[in-house]
Amino acid sequence: MQDTAKPWSQVELIREAFHYQSRFEGSTMVFKVDFPVTEDPAFPFLVKDLALLAQTGFRVLIVPGAKEWIDSVLGEYGIVSRYRLSQRITTAASIPFVEMAAFHVAARFMTGLAGSRVDAVIGNFVRARGIGVVEGMDMEHTGAVDKILTDSLTKTLDQGMVPILPCIGYSPAGKPYNVASDEIALAAAEALGAVKLFFVSLGAGLQAQSHKLPEGIELGEKGRVVRLTPAEAEAVLSSNAAGGDSGDGTGRVEQIHGRDRPLEELNLALKASRAGVERIHIINGREDGAILRELFSNLGSGTMLYSDEYDAIRPLRSRDIPVILRLMDPLMRQGVLVKRSAEQILEKKEDFAVFEIDGSVHACGALHQWDGQGEIAAIATDPLYADMGMGRRLVGYLISQARKRGLSRVFVLTTRTQDWFELLGFREVSVESLPESRRRVYDRGRRSKVFALEFGD
Ligand SMILES: CC(C)(COP(=O)(O)OP(=O)(O)OC[C@H]1O[C@@H](n2cnc3c(N)ncnc32)[C@H](O)[C@@H]1OP(=O)(O)O)[C@@H](O)C(=O)NCCC(=O)NCCS
Repeated sequence: MQDTAKPWSQVELIREAFHYQSRFEGSTMVFKVDFPVTEDPAFPFLVKDLALLAQTGFRVLIVPGAKEWIDSVLGEYGIVSRYRLSQRITTAASIPFVEMAAFHVAARFMTGLAGSRVDAVIGNFVRARGIGVVEGMDMEHTGAVDKILTDSLTKTLDQGMVPILPCIGYSPAGKPYNVASDEIALAAAEALGAVKLFFVSLGAGLQAQSHKLPEGIELGEKGRVVRLTPAEAEAVLSSNAAGGDSGDGTGRVEQIHGRDRPLEELNLALKASRAGVERIHIINGREDGAILRELFSNLGSGTMLYSDEYDAIRPLRSRDIPVILRLMDPLMRQGVLVKRSAEQILEKKEDFAVFEIDGSVHACGALHQWDGQGEIAAIATDPLYADMGMGRRLVGYLISQARKRGLSRVFVLTTRTQDWFELLGFREVSVESLPESRRRVYDRGRRSKVFALEFGD
Protein backbone atom coordinates (compact mmCIF):
# COMPACT_ATOMS: atom_id res chain seq x y z
CA MET A 1 0.00 0.00 0.00
CA GLN A 2 2.90 2.33 0.84
CA ASP A 3 4.29 1.95 -2.67
CA THR A 4 1.14 3.19 -4.33
CA ALA A 5 0.47 5.93 -1.80
CA LYS A 6 3.88 7.60 -2.12
CA PRO A 7 3.92 8.63 -5.80
CA TRP A 8 0.37 9.88 -5.40
CA SER A 9 1.52 12.10 -2.51
CA GLN A 10 4.36 13.46 -4.60
CA VAL A 11 2.01 14.28 -7.44
CA GLU A 12 -0.28 16.01 -4.96
CA LEU A 13 2.63 18.09 -3.69
CA ILE A 14 3.56 19.09 -7.22
CA ARG A 15 -0.04 20.09 -7.88
CA GLU A 16 -0.07 22.13 -4.72
CA ALA A 17 3.19 23.82 -5.71
CA PHE A 18 1.74 24.85 -9.08
CA HIS A 19 -1.40 26.08 -7.36
CA TYR A 20 0.63 28.39 -5.12
CA GLN A 21 2.98 29.38 -7.92
CA SER A 22 0.12 30.67 -10.04
CA ARG A 23 -1.56 32.26 -7.04
CA PHE A 24 1.43 34.29 -5.84
CA GLU A 25 3.41 34.85 -9.04
CA GLY A 26 4.27 38.52 -9.44
CA SER A 27 3.55 39.33 -5.81
CA THR A 28 6.02 40.88 -3.40
CA MET A 29 7.52 38.95 -0.52
CA VAL A 30 9.82 40.37 2.13
CA PHE A 31 12.36 38.14 3.88
CA LYS A 32 13.86 39.30 7.15
CA VAL A 33 16.76 36.98 7.88
CA ASP A 34 18.49 37.04 11.29
CA PHE A 35 22.26 37.23 11.19
CA PRO A 36 22.98 33.79 12.77
CA VAL A 37 21.18 32.18 9.81
CA THR A 38 23.90 33.50 7.49
CA GLU A 39 26.52 31.58 9.49
CA ASP A 40 24.62 28.31 9.43
CA PRO A 41 25.63 25.53 7.00
CA ALA A 42 22.07 25.67 5.60
CA PHE A 43 22.50 29.32 4.50
CA PRO A 44 23.70 28.64 0.92
CA PHE A 45 20.60 26.51 0.34
CA LEU A 46 18.35 29.19 1.75
CA VAL A 47 19.83 31.77 -0.64
CA LYS A 48 19.43 29.29 -3.51
CA ASP A 49 15.75 28.97 -2.66
CA LEU A 50 15.39 32.77 -2.57
CA ALA A 51 17.09 32.92 -5.97
CA LEU A 52 14.71 30.27 -7.29
CA LEU A 53 11.75 32.35 -6.16
CA ALA A 54 13.13 35.45 -7.88
CA GLN A 55 13.74 33.44 -11.05
CA THR A 56 10.22 32.06 -11.10
CA GLY A 57 8.52 35.44 -11.00
CA PHE A 58 8.19 36.38 -7.34
CA ARG A 59 9.30 39.85 -6.29
CA VAL A 60 11.79 39.08 -3.54
CA LEU A 61 13.17 41.66 -1.13
CA ILE A 62 15.72 40.80 1.56
CA VAL A 63 16.34 42.54 4.87
CA PRO A 64 19.40 41.01 6.55
CA GLY A 65 19.75 41.35 10.30
CA ALA A 66 23.33 42.16 11.33
CA LYS A 67 23.25 42.65 15.09
CA GLU A 68 25.69 39.94 16.14
CA TRP A 69 28.10 40.81 13.30
CA ILE A 70 28.04 44.49 14.28
CA ASP A 71 28.78 43.45 17.88
CA SER A 72 31.79 41.47 16.78
CA VAL A 73 33.14 44.18 14.43
CA LEU A 74 32.78 46.84 17.11
CA GLY A 75 34.43 44.48 19.59
CA GLU A 76 37.35 43.99 17.24
CA TYR A 77 37.91 47.75 17.10
CA GLY A 78 37.61 48.05 20.86
CA ILE A 79 34.31 49.94 20.75
CA VAL A 80 31.97 49.12 23.61
CA SER A 81 28.30 49.62 22.78
CA ARG A 82 25.89 51.19 25.19
CA TYR A 83 22.21 50.35 25.07
CA ARG A 84 18.99 52.03 25.99
CA LEU A 85 16.55 49.23 26.77
CA SER A 86 17.63 46.75 24.13
CA GLN A 87 18.55 49.31 21.47
CA ARG A 88 22.16 50.07 20.66
CA ILE A 89 23.22 53.70 20.95
CA THR A 90 25.19 54.11 17.74
CA THR A 91 27.72 56.86 18.35
CA ALA A 92 29.48 59.05 15.78
CA ALA A 93 32.63 56.99 16.40
CA SER A 94 30.92 53.68 15.80
CA ILE A 95 28.65 54.47 12.81
CA PRO A 96 31.37 53.86 10.14
CA PHE A 97 31.98 50.40 11.62
CA VAL A 98 28.25 49.71 11.88
CA GLU A 99 27.85 50.64 8.20
CA MET A 100 30.78 48.44 7.24
CA ALA A 101 29.36 45.48 9.19
CA ALA A 102 25.81 45.97 7.83
CA PHE A 103 27.02 46.10 4.22
CA HIS A 104 29.25 43.09 4.76
CA VAL A 105 26.24 40.99 5.81
CA ALA A 106 24.18 42.31 2.88
CA ALA A 107 27.03 41.30 0.58
CA ARG A 108 26.77 37.70 1.79
CA PHE A 109 23.30 37.58 0.24
CA MET A 110 24.46 39.36 -2.89
CA THR A 111 27.27 36.83 -3.35
CA GLY A 112 24.91 33.88 -2.89
CA LEU A 113 22.41 35.32 -5.35
CA ALA A 114 25.16 36.05 -7.89
CA GLY A 115 26.11 32.38 -7.64
CA SER A 116 22.57 31.55 -8.78
CA ARG A 117 22.71 34.18 -11.53
CA VAL A 118 20.19 36.47 -9.90
CA ASP A 119 20.92 40.20 -9.97
CA ALA A 120 20.71 41.96 -6.63
CA VAL A 121 21.14 45.54 -5.47
CA ILE A 122 22.24 46.67 -2.04
CA GLY A 123 20.70 50.10 -1.85
CA ASN A 124 19.81 53.18 0.11
CA PHE A 125 16.10 52.46 0.01
CA VAL A 126 15.40 53.63 3.55
CA ARG A 127 15.07 57.26 4.55
CA ALA A 128 15.75 57.53 8.26
CA ARG A 129 15.47 60.10 10.98
CA GLY A 130 17.37 60.24 14.22
CA ILE A 131 15.58 59.12 17.35
CA GLY A 132 17.15 62.11 19.07
CA VAL A 133 17.41 62.52 22.81
CA VAL A 134 15.26 60.08 24.79
CA GLU A 135 14.95 60.56 28.55
CA GLY A 136 18.10 62.64 28.55
CA MET A 137 20.04 60.07 26.51
CA ASP A 138 21.36 61.16 23.11
CA MET A 139 20.74 58.26 20.72
CA GLU A 140 23.14 59.88 18.19
CA HIS A 141 23.19 57.74 15.00
CA THR A 142 20.41 55.40 16.13
CA GLY A 143 17.48 56.00 13.82
CA ALA A 144 13.95 55.04 12.89
CA VAL A 145 12.38 54.52 9.48
CA ASP A 146 11.13 57.80 8.11
CA LYS A 147 10.07 56.51 4.72
CA ILE A 148 10.65 53.53 2.47
CA LEU A 149 11.64 54.77 -0.99
CA THR A 150 9.07 52.71 -2.84
CA ASP A 151 9.68 54.26 -6.27
CA SER A 152 13.30 53.13 -6.36
CA LEU A 153 12.39 49.76 -4.88
CA THR A 154 9.60 49.20 -7.39
CA LYS A 155 11.90 50.08 -10.29
CA THR A 156 14.47 47.60 -9.00
CA LEU A 157 11.86 44.86 -8.57
CA ASP A 158 10.35 45.60 -12.00
CA GLN A 159 13.72 44.80 -13.53
CA GLY A 160 13.69 41.39 -11.90
CA MET A 161 16.38 42.35 -9.40
CA VAL A 162 16.41 41.53 -5.70
CA PRO A 163 16.79 44.61 -3.46
CA ILE A 164 18.77 44.05 -0.28
CA LEU A 165 18.16 46.53 2.53
CA PRO A 166 20.94 46.70 5.13
CA CYS A 167 20.11 48.08 8.57
CA ILE A 168 21.23 51.57 7.60
CA GLY A 169 19.00 54.46 6.60
CA TYR A 170 19.92 57.96 5.47
CA SER A 171 18.47 61.34 6.31
CA PRO A 172 17.64 63.63 3.35
CA ALA A 173 20.91 65.41 4.18
CA GLY A 174 22.82 62.14 3.78
CA LYS A 175 23.45 61.40 7.45
CA PRO A 176 23.58 57.64 8.15
CA TYR A 177 21.50 56.04 10.89
CA ASN A 178 21.49 52.54 12.28
CA VAL A 179 17.89 51.32 12.05
CA ALA A 180 16.58 48.03 13.45
CA SER A 181 16.23 45.58 10.58
CA ASP A 182 12.98 44.19 12.00
CA GLU A 183 11.56 47.68 11.70
CA ILE A 184 12.83 48.04 8.13
CA ALA A 185 11.24 44.71 7.16
CA LEU A 186 7.89 45.74 8.62
CA ALA A 187 7.95 49.15 6.97
CA ALA A 188 9.01 47.72 3.60
CA ALA A 189 6.33 45.03 3.64
CA GLU A 190 3.71 47.64 4.46
CA ALA A 191 4.93 50.24 1.94
CA LEU A 192 5.15 47.73 -0.92
CA GLY A 193 1.86 46.00 -0.13
CA ALA A 194 3.72 42.69 0.26
CA VAL A 195 1.49 39.62 0.35
CA LYS A 196 3.93 37.84 2.60
CA LEU A 197 6.55 38.69 5.17
CA PHE A 198 8.93 36.03 6.40
CA PHE A 199 10.91 36.10 9.62
CA VAL A 200 13.75 33.63 9.25
CA SER A 201 15.72 32.80 12.37
CA LEU A 202 17.41 29.80 13.94
CA GLY A 203 15.47 27.70 16.41
CA ALA A 204 12.42 25.56 16.66
CA GLY A 205 9.98 28.49 16.66
CA LEU A 206 6.68 28.60 18.49
CA GLN A 207 6.00 25.26 20.11
CA ALA A 208 3.65 23.76 22.65
CA GLN A 209 6.64 22.52 24.70
CA SER A 210 8.23 25.92 25.09
CA HIS A 211 5.29 28.33 25.11
CA LYS A 212 2.00 28.66 26.94
CA LEU A 213 -0.74 28.24 24.38
CA PRO A 214 -4.44 28.95 24.72
CA GLU A 215 -6.90 26.10 24.01
CA GLY A 216 -7.71 25.21 20.43
CA ILE A 217 -4.45 26.29 18.77
CA GLU A 218 -3.65 24.06 15.81
CA LEU A 219 -0.48 22.05 16.35
CA GLY A 220 1.66 20.22 13.82
CA GLU A 221 4.47 17.73 14.28
CA LYS A 222 6.60 18.12 17.44
CA GLY A 223 4.03 20.53 18.88
CA ARG A 224 4.73 23.22 16.26
CA VAL A 225 2.16 25.99 16.16
CA VAL A 226 1.01 25.76 12.56
CA ARG A 227 -1.07 28.88 12.15
CA LEU A 228 -2.68 31.64 14.14
CA THR A 229 -5.26 34.29 13.54
CA PRO A 230 -4.41 37.77 14.86
CA ALA A 231 -6.76 37.15 17.83
CA GLU A 232 -4.98 33.89 18.65
CA ALA A 233 -1.59 35.57 18.29
CA GLU A 234 -2.68 38.21 20.79
CA ALA A 235 -3.78 35.47 23.17
CA VAL A 236 -0.41 33.68 22.81
CA LEU A 237 1.45 36.93 23.44
CA SER A 238 -0.56 37.81 26.48
CA SER A 239 -0.31 34.34 28.01
CA ASN A 240 3.46 34.51 27.57
CA ALA A 241 3.62 38.20 28.53
CA ALA A 242 5.82 39.19 25.59
CA GLY A 243 7.26 42.67 25.22
CA GLY A 244 6.40 44.82 22.23
CA ASP A 245 6.96 48.44 21.58
CA SER A 246 9.87 50.07 23.27
CA GLY A 247 7.37 52.25 25.06
CA ASP A 248 9.36 55.40 24.41
CA GLY A 249 6.69 56.85 22.15
CA THR A 250 8.84 56.52 19.03
CA GLY A 251 6.77 53.56 17.82
CA ARG A 252 9.94 51.68 17.03
CA VAL A 253 10.06 47.94 17.37
CA GLU A 254 11.98 46.66 20.29
CA GLN A 255 14.66 44.12 19.46
CA ILE A 256 15.33 41.81 22.31
CA HIS A 257 17.72 39.28 20.93
CA GLY A 258 18.63 36.46 23.20
CA ARG A 259 15.20 36.68 24.82
CA ASP A 260 12.33 34.74 23.32
CA ARG A 261 12.85 35.35 19.62
CA PRO A 262 9.76 33.40 18.44
CA LEU A 263 7.54 35.57 20.66
CA GLU A 264 9.32 38.67 19.51
CA GLU A 265 8.73 37.60 15.91
CA LEU A 266 5.08 36.91 16.68
CA ASN A 267 4.77 40.40 18.09
CA LEU A 268 6.26 41.81 14.88
CA ALA A 269 4.01 39.56 12.82
CA LEU A 270 0.96 40.93 14.60
CA LYS A 271 2.06 44.48 13.82
CA ALA A 272 2.55 43.54 10.18
CA SER A 273 -0.87 41.93 10.10
CA ARG A 274 -2.44 45.07 11.54
CA ALA A 275 -0.60 47.05 8.86
CA GLY A 276 -2.32 44.96 6.17
CA VAL A 277 0.18 42.19 5.35
CA GLU A 278 -2.04 39.15 4.77
CA ARG A 279 0.33 36.41 5.78
CA ILE A 280 3.39 36.47 7.95
CA HIS A 281 5.53 33.38 8.36
CA ILE A 282 7.96 32.58 11.13
CA ILE A 283 10.34 29.89 9.99
CA ASN A 284 13.51 28.08 10.97
CA GLY A 285 16.36 28.92 8.59
CA ARG A 286 18.20 25.77 9.56
CA GLU A 287 15.52 23.52 8.07
CA ASP A 288 16.24 22.52 4.51
CA GLY A 289 13.67 23.96 2.12
CA ALA A 290 11.74 25.71 4.92
CA ILE A 291 10.79 28.66 2.72
CA LEU A 292 9.66 26.48 -0.17
CA ARG A 293 7.65 24.19 2.07
CA GLU A 294 6.01 27.13 3.75
CA LEU A 295 5.23 28.75 0.41
CA PHE A 296 4.25 25.87 -1.79
CA SER A 297 2.47 23.46 0.48
CA ASN A 298 -0.59 23.74 2.66
CA LEU A 299 1.31 21.88 5.34
CA GLY A 300 4.02 24.50 5.84
CA SER A 301 7.02 24.19 8.11
CA GLY A 302 6.80 27.13 10.47
CA THR A 303 4.11 29.28 12.02
CA MET A 304 1.85 31.40 9.87
CA LEU A 305 -0.14 34.39 11.04
CA TYR A 306 -2.96 35.01 8.61
CA SER A 307 -5.71 37.53 8.42
CA ASP A 308 -7.32 36.43 5.15
CA GLU A 309 -9.64 33.50 4.57
CA TYR A 310 -7.33 30.51 4.78
CA ASP A 311 -9.42 27.46 5.40
CA ALA A 312 -13.11 26.95 5.24
CA ILE A 313 -15.85 24.36 5.26
CA ARG A 314 -18.27 24.90 2.43
CA PRO A 315 -20.94 23.00 0.48
CA LEU A 316 -19.80 20.63 -2.26
CA ARG A 317 -19.66 21.96 -5.81
CA SER A 318 -19.97 19.67 -8.82
CA ARG A 319 -16.36 20.26 -9.80
CA ASP A 320 -15.21 18.93 -6.39
CA ILE A 321 -16.68 15.49 -7.07
CA PRO A 322 -13.57 13.98 -8.76
CA VAL A 323 -11.46 15.30 -5.88
CA ILE A 324 -13.61 13.79 -3.14
CA LEU A 325 -13.91 10.54 -5.07
CA ARG A 326 -10.13 10.37 -5.06
CA LEU A 327 -10.15 10.90 -1.29
CA MET A 328 -12.80 8.25 -0.76
CA ASP A 329 -11.64 5.72 -3.33
CA PRO A 330 -8.99 3.88 -1.24
CA LEU A 331 -11.39 3.88 1.74
CA MET A 332 -14.22 2.50 -0.38
CA ARG A 333 -11.93 -0.20 -1.70
CA GLN A 334 -10.91 -1.13 1.85
CA GLY A 335 -14.57 -1.28 2.82
CA VAL A 336 -14.19 1.56 5.34
CA LEU A 337 -16.67 3.68 3.41
CA VAL A 338 -19.75 2.56 1.51
CA LYS A 339 -19.20 2.58 -2.27
CA ARG A 340 -20.57 5.65 -4.06
CA SER A 341 -20.36 6.67 -7.69
CA ALA A 342 -19.99 10.21 -9.05
CA GLU A 343 -23.67 10.08 -10.06
CA GLN A 344 -24.80 9.05 -6.58
CA ILE A 345 -22.79 11.87 -5.03
CA LEU A 346 -24.18 14.35 -7.54
CA GLU A 347 -27.70 13.23 -6.69
CA LYS A 348 -27.09 13.99 -3.01
CA LYS A 349 -24.83 16.99 -3.67
CA GLU A 350 -26.68 19.23 -1.20
CA ASP A 351 -25.85 16.81 1.63
CA PHE A 352 -22.08 17.07 1.17
CA ALA A 353 -19.57 19.54 2.59
CA VAL A 354 -15.84 19.88 1.92
CA PHE A 355 -12.90 21.20 3.90
CA GLU A 356 -10.85 23.53 1.76
CA ILE A 357 -7.39 24.90 2.49
CA ASP A 358 -6.28 27.75 0.30
CA GLY A 359 -8.59 26.75 -2.49
CA SER A 360 -7.91 23.01 -2.52
CA VAL A 361 -10.16 20.35 -0.99
CA HIS A 362 -8.62 18.03 1.61
CA ALA A 363 -11.58 16.45 3.40
CA CYS A 364 -15.25 15.75 2.88
CA GLY A 365 -18.34 14.55 4.68
CA ALA A 366 -22.11 14.35 4.31
CA LEU A 367 -25.27 14.76 6.34
CA HIS A 368 -28.23 12.75 5.07
CA GLN A 369 -31.67 13.27 6.51
CA TRP A 370 -33.99 10.42 7.54
CA ASP A 371 -37.32 11.06 9.28
CA GLY A 372 -36.15 13.88 11.51
CA GLN A 373 -32.70 12.40 12.18
CA GLY A 374 -29.36 13.13 10.52
CA GLU A 375 -26.85 10.56 9.32
CA ILE A 376 -23.23 11.62 9.18
CA ALA A 377 -21.48 9.73 6.41
CA ALA A 378 -18.60 9.71 3.94
CA ILE A 379 -16.19 11.45 6.29
CA ALA A 380 -12.75 11.23 4.69
CA THR A 381 -9.57 13.21 5.30
CA ASP A 382 -6.63 13.36 2.91
CA PRO A 383 -3.99 11.19 4.68
CA LEU A 384 -1.36 13.92 4.10
CA TYR A 385 -3.53 16.20 6.23
CA ALA A 386 -4.47 13.76 8.98
CA ASP A 387 -4.56 14.84 12.62
CA MET A 388 -4.98 18.51 11.83
CA GLY A 389 -8.50 18.66 13.23
CA MET A 390 -10.22 18.71 9.83
CA GLY A 391 -12.31 15.60 10.53
CA ARG A 392 -13.45 16.96 13.89
CA ARG A 393 -14.32 20.35 12.44
CA LEU A 394 -16.24 18.79 9.56
CA VAL A 395 -18.27 16.63 11.91
CA GLY A 396 -18.87 19.73 14.08
CA TYR A 397 -20.10 21.60 11.03
CA LEU A 398 -22.45 18.77 10.02
CA ILE A 399 -23.79 18.58 13.58
CA SER A 400 -24.51 22.31 13.54
CA GLN A 401 -26.31 21.88 10.20
CA ALA A 402 -28.41 19.11 11.74
CA ARG A 403 -29.28 21.33 14.71
CA LYS A 404 -30.24 24.17 12.38
CA ARG A 405 -32.59 21.84 10.55
CA GLY A 406 -34.24 20.94 13.86
CA LEU A 407 -33.23 17.25 13.73
CA SER A 408 -33.46 15.30 16.97
CA ARG A 409 -30.05 13.63 16.76
CA VAL A 410 -27.28 12.62 14.40
CA PHE A 411 -26.06 9.06 13.98
CA VAL A 412 -23.27 7.37 12.08
CA LEU A 413 -22.83 3.82 10.83
CA THR A 414 -19.25 2.76 11.22
CA THR A 415 -17.20 -0.40 10.98
CA ARG A 416 -13.76 0.90 11.98
CA THR A 417 -13.97 4.39 13.36
CA GLN A 418 -16.08 3.92 16.47
CA ASP A 419 -13.37 5.13 18.87
CA TRP A 420 -13.04 8.39 17.01
CA PHE A 421 -16.79 9.05 17.09
CA GLU A 422 -16.83 8.17 20.79
CA LEU A 423 -14.17 10.80 21.31
CA LEU A 424 -16.49 13.27 19.61
CA GLY A 425 -19.26 12.45 22.08
CA PHE A 426 -21.20 9.79 20.12
CA ARG A 427 -22.54 6.77 22.02
CA GLU A 428 -23.39 3.33 20.66
CA VAL A 429 -27.08 2.71 20.08
CA SER A 430 -29.00 -0.24 18.66
CA VAL A 431 -29.76 -0.69 14.98
CA GLU A 432 -33.40 -0.75 16.00
CA SER A 433 -33.17 2.87 17.10
CA LEU A 434 -32.53 3.96 13.49
CA PRO A 435 -35.41 5.68 11.71
CA GLU A 436 -37.66 3.20 9.95
CA SER A 437 -36.70 4.45 6.47
CA ARG A 438 -32.99 3.99 7.26
CA ARG A 439 -33.45 0.59 8.87
CA ARG A 440 -35.03 -0.69 5.69
CA VAL A 441 -31.84 -0.02 3.72
CA TYR A 442 -29.42 -1.01 6.52
CA ASP A 443 -26.91 -3.43 5.01
CA ARG A 444 -26.81 -6.25 7.57
CA GLY A 445 -23.86 -7.80 5.70
CA ARG A 446 -21.60 -4.84 6.66
CA ARG A 447 -22.50 -5.25 10.34
CA SER A 448 -21.85 -1.58 10.93
CA LYS A 449 -22.23 -0.31 14.46
CA VAL A 450 -24.50 2.64 15.07
CA PHE A 451 -23.30 5.60 17.12
CA ALA A 452 -25.49 8.56 17.88
CA LEU A 453 -25.32 12.00 19.39
CA GLU A 454 -28.62 13.04 20.95
CA PHE A 455 -29.42 16.74 20.90
CA GLY A 456 -31.87 16.81 23.81
CA ASP A 457 -33.65 20.13 24.06
C1 LIG B 1 -11.36 9.32 10.92
C2 LIG B 1 -10.84 10.47 10.10
C3 LIG B 1 -11.99 11.13 9.38
C4 LIG B 1 -10.14 11.46 11.01
O1 LIG B 1 -9.74 12.57 10.25
P1 LIG B 1 -8.69 13.67 10.82
O2 LIG B 1 -8.91 14.89 10.00
O3 LIG B 1 -7.34 13.11 10.87
O4 LIG B 1 -9.28 13.87 12.27
P2 LIG B 1 -8.89 14.88 13.41
O5 LIG B 1 -7.63 15.60 13.07
O6 LIG B 1 -10.08 15.68 13.73
O7 LIG B 1 -8.64 13.89 14.63
C5 LIG B 1 -7.48 13.16 14.68
C6 LIG B 1 -7.42 12.39 15.98
O8 LIG B 1 -8.30 11.27 15.91
C7 LIG B 1 -7.52 10.09 16.04
N1 LIG B 1 -8.09 9.08 15.12
C8 LIG B 1 -8.05 9.09 13.77
N2 LIG B 1 -8.67 7.98 13.31
C9 LIG B 1 -9.09 7.29 14.40
C10 LIG B 1 -9.78 6.06 14.56
N3 LIG B 1 -10.14 5.30 13.53
N4 LIG B 1 -10.06 5.67 15.82
C11 LIG B 1 -9.68 6.39 16.88
N5 LIG B 1 -9.01 7.57 16.79
C12 LIG B 1 -8.72 8.00 15.55
C13 LIG B 1 -6.11 10.46 15.64
O9 LIG B 1 -5.16 9.61 16.21
C14 LIG B 1 -6.02 11.86 16.20
O10 LIG B 1 -5.79 11.80 17.59
P3 LIG B 1 -4.97 12.99 18.35
O11 LIG B 1 -5.79 14.24 18.13
O12 LIG B 1 -4.96 12.51 19.76
O13 LIG B 1 -3.66 13.04 17.66
C15 LIG B 1 -9.78 10.01 9.05
O14 LIG B 1 -8.82 9.23 9.72
C16 LIG B 1 -10.35 9.19 7.92
O15 LIG B 1 -10.57 9.72 6.84
N6 LIG B 1 -10.57 7.89 8.16
C17 LIG B 1 -11.08 7.00 7.16
C18 LIG B 1 -12.55 7.21 6.86
C19 LIG B 1 -13.46 6.97 8.05
O16 LIG B 1 -13.22 6.11 8.90
N7 LIG B 1 -14.55 7.76 8.12
C20 LIG B 1 -15.51 7.66 9.19
C21 LIG B 1 -16.67 6.82 8.79
S1 LIG B 1 -17.92 7.84 8.09
